[in-house]
Amino acid sequence: MQDSNAALNMDQQYRYQRHIYDVSRKYYLLGRDTLLKELRLPVDASVLELGCGTARNLSKLAYRYPTAQLFGVDASALMLDCAKRNLQNTPYQASITLRQGLAEQIRWQDFDLDGAWDHVLFSYVLSMLPDWKIALEHALTQLKPQGCLHVVDFSDQANMPAWFRQGLMTWLAWFNVHPQTQVLAHLEFLAAKHKADLQIKHLAGRYAFIAHYRKREPLSIQTKLPDLAAYLDI
Ligand SMILES: C[S@@+](CC[C@H](N)C(=O)[O-])C[C@H]1O[C@@H](n2cnc3c(N)ncnc32)[C@H](O)[C@@H]1O
Repeated sequence: MQDSNAALNMDQQYRYQRHIYDVSRKYYLLGRDTLLKELRLPVDASVLELGCGTARNLSKLAYRYPTAQLFGVDASALMLDCAKRNLQNTPYQASITLRQGLAEQIRWQDFDLDGAWDHVLFSYVLSMLPDWKIALEHALTQLKPQGCLHVVDFSDQANMPAWFRQGLMTWLAWFNVHPQTQVLAHLEFLAAKHKADLQIKHLAGRYAFIAHYRKREPLSIQTKLPDLAAYLDI
């Protein structure tokens, strides 16, 4: 992994927290289960979770989709140890591949895969990344032409009292979490630029958001020709 600082920082951050991670986070990382339910995975779909942490989301996907090929990447070796321990002796162990790496750099060619991923997932990770734009755009390059990117993260809490938002931001900053309100605008920009489909919804008074971004395959010459023929009336 090229940026060992990011890995060390994450190891430092999660050294003790990882032991209470799943129990504590279920109360405030809202929307993760909603997002997982909204994924419709075809048989044998390949899914990558960037910043997979304790493999909590991947285990749930493995339960629902036993034939999917699931991959988890995380900067923190300590979080991955936790994930491996959680998967030990479970039926999901065989369908989930875990690897240390950075969301900004990971490539499908480094895995036992014959093509890019069908789905890439960011669950409460972009708000931890100083280079979230790079990570987002890099993730799109690791998707198949019709692949989907899914994001769940903190929203702008616009429909909640200002004191709540202020308190939440202060508390999250202690954990190096800095929600980026520009993520949605950037996704909209990317969707418009690449003519992709984008669905966004806000949850719990805009506490969190879920975004589903589907790439659209560029029209091939074969699909364009009939259009041209019809246009020329030949
Ligand atoms: C808040 S946790 C979310 C874990 C999991 N996605 C979930 O929903 O429970 C963020 C995770 O992202 C990882 N992480 C942070 N920066 C990363 C990066 N640049 N590349 C990959 N993982 C990263 C952290 O180590 C941590 O495990």
